[in-house]
Amino acid sequence: MILSTITLNPAVDKTYYVRNFTVNGLNRVDRVKVNMGGKGVNVAATAVKCGIHCTAGGFLSGYNGQQISKYVKDAGITADFVHTEGETRINIKVVDTENQTYTDINEVGPEISAADRETLFTKISDMAAKSDYVYVGGSFHPCLGNDIYKRLIEIIKEKGAKAVLDADGEALRLGIEAHPDIIKPNQTELESLIGTKIKTVSDVTRAAKALCKNGVETVLVSLGGNGAVAAIGGRIYRVYALNASVRSTVGAGDSFLCGYLYGLTVTEDAAEALQYAMAFATAKIQTEGTDIPDFENLKQDFGKVTVEIME
Ligand SMILES: Nc1ncnc2c1ncn2[C@@H]1O[C@H](COP(=O)(O)OP(=O)(O)OP(=O)(O)O)[C@@H](O)[C@H]1O
Ligand SMILES: [Mg+2]
Repeated sequence: MILSTITLNPAVDKTYYVRNFTVNGLNRVDRVKVNMGGKGVNVAATAVKCGIHCTAGGFLSGYNGQQISKYVKDAGITADFVHTEGETRINIKVVDTENQTYTDINEVGPEISAADRETLFTKISDMAAKSDYVYVGGSFHPCLGNDIYKRLIEIIKEKGAKAVLDADGEALRLGIEAHPDIIKPNQTELESLIGTKIKTVSDVTRAAKALCKNGVETVLVSLGGNGAVAAIGGRIYRVYALNASVRSTVGAGDSFLCGYLYGLTVTEDAAEALQYAMAFATAKIQTEGTDIPDFENLKQDFGKVTVEIME
């Protein structure tokens, strides 16, 4: 499989570990952790660990952009970004180890000029022509408009690649209009998409089926600790979560999606691909922050995952 991933608003994540975080006071940092990423970069970094040939693209700017570019290349990913004016954002997370509080301070990221947006469209078109799958997901600067993923998916599909979308809100709703091949909403994202709360597995099933009717080939709905439900090729699958000690659920969905993509490279059986998805997600939740487990670790629980064909 040749995979490309697009990150429109990457970030350098800085986590400060402090004790007794105080507003209006001086906080001394015990430990700092720096992670390079954004959803697309994380998906690429996971995919290369599984031997998937991967290119990462999107926008990068300034010094932080250079750091991310270096990280991407060092990970063995081909970097093919559009370099823009300004500075790639820093997202600060403050973890209070004493009171177990988590505070996020996220920058909006640099504005993208119309010319840079056009360059991105051309780049993605070239990438898609050389890829089997192109992943788009994560947040983006509001100046790009909520139809940005829709436009990207149109370009990707025009070049004959399959489009994978992991977005939320209006960007997800509009993106679906371009018929992505795979989407992976979580419960909240699916609820806001259908406009009602989800209470039962059959609510999820109904929504997933409706999305397939709207032209999405594969709908993977991740339900946090409640596992996942997938609609693939006219069938509905229930994937059960494994019991695991949770360190961090951030990026669990991305890991789930990666596991599914990896599964597609080794089996034609959707149920088996979903076993990989769950194994990858389980390995991720047992890992701290945005760190990515090794391949051996990712697939470790494959054999333990139960997948039931519901319909
Ligand atoms: N508490 C948990 N216990 C067991 N498995 C979990 C837990 N939380 C998440 N998972 C696993 O991770 C998968 C994805 O989780 P979730 O639905 O929270 O993704 P998400 O919200 O899209 O995450 P992100 O966007 O941060 O990557 C679930 O389908 C499940 O397999
Ligand atoms: Mg998610």
